[in-house]
Amino acid sequence: MIKVIVCGALGRMGSCLIKNMLKEKDLELVCGIEKKDHPELREEWNFQISSDLMSVIKRTDCIVEFTNPKATCEHLKVAANNCKPCLIGTTGFTEGQLKEIRNAAKRIPVLLSPNMSVGVNLLFKLVSDAVKVLKGYDIEIIESHHRYKKDAPSGTAKNLADIIKDIKGEKIPVSSIRAGDIVGDHTILFAGGGERIELTHRAHSRDSFAQGTIQAIRFVTEASAGLYNMFDVLFPNIK
Ligand SMILES: NC(=O)c1ccc[n+]([C@@H]2O[C@H](COP(=O)([O-])OP(=O)(O)OC[C@H]3O[C@@H](n4cnc5c(N)ncnc54)[C@H](OP(=O)(O)O)[C@@H]3O)[C@@H](O)[C@H]2O)c1
Repeated sequence: MIKVIVCGALGRMGSCLIKNMLKEKDLELVCGIEKKDHPELREEWNFQISSDLMSVIKRTDCIVEFTNPKATCEHLKVAANNCKPCLIGTTGFTEGQLKEIRNAAKRIPVLLSPNMSVGVNLLFKLVSDAVKVLKGYDIEIIESHHRYKKDAPSGTAKNLADIIKDIKGEKIPVSSIRAGDIVGDHTILFAGGGERIELTHRAHSRDSFAQGTIQAIRFVTEASAGLYNMFDVLFPNIK
């Protein structure tokens, strides 16, 4: 049985992950971490919600982060000091915070991915193949998310832009839309003379992120210290 702590347990992503995790026979939720204790929820949800990761960390095999960059970096220090693997789904890190994550990964397994879904990770691969073939095409990224999303561009759009920049050597324009309850859409437009190609991924619900996260939990608890992404989990044989 893999014992898991979910940070941001009552948020949009954390609560969706927990709903999906409770159906898995090999995963056990030991505790949810939130900014404040929620004793009133314990009975209804049937698991503990604490604001103090330090007090419960010894009971877990890994921690999962869907909070915000500051909280994630604080929790990561606790995980590293206690030799517990950490899976980070949070987005919006500064360069300094990314450095902290890389340093922690020298001591513990850390899986960092701005998007846990199988579909988006396949999209990363399709985009890199398309950029290599469509030389001279103009490339733009358009991403849409719900009105409450705090970071823009999305972590997924930044990752797509980095993949394209590494191959094409140019910074790619990204347009961000924040509206309604859109779970997450990403389109990469390749426009050439007389034609265009659009690669689009649309998330219909957060279940796709939760299902990828569940696969990542199994991976990260078996891994040795190092920094991993969802390619290591989903497509270990594709480079
Ligand atoms: N990698 C992926 O596949 C993926 C998919 C979706 C979202 N995300 C990312 O995941 C993150 C969370 O997204 P979301 O939509 O679930 O946000 P959300 O609904 O705002 O959930 C975040 C939760 O974390 C809590 N929190 C804040 N500070 C905390 C702390 N110090 N300790 C413990 N809990 C704390 C928040 O509590 P309060 O509300 O009281 O502040 C909230 O309940 C974002 O960075 C988002 O971009 C990643």
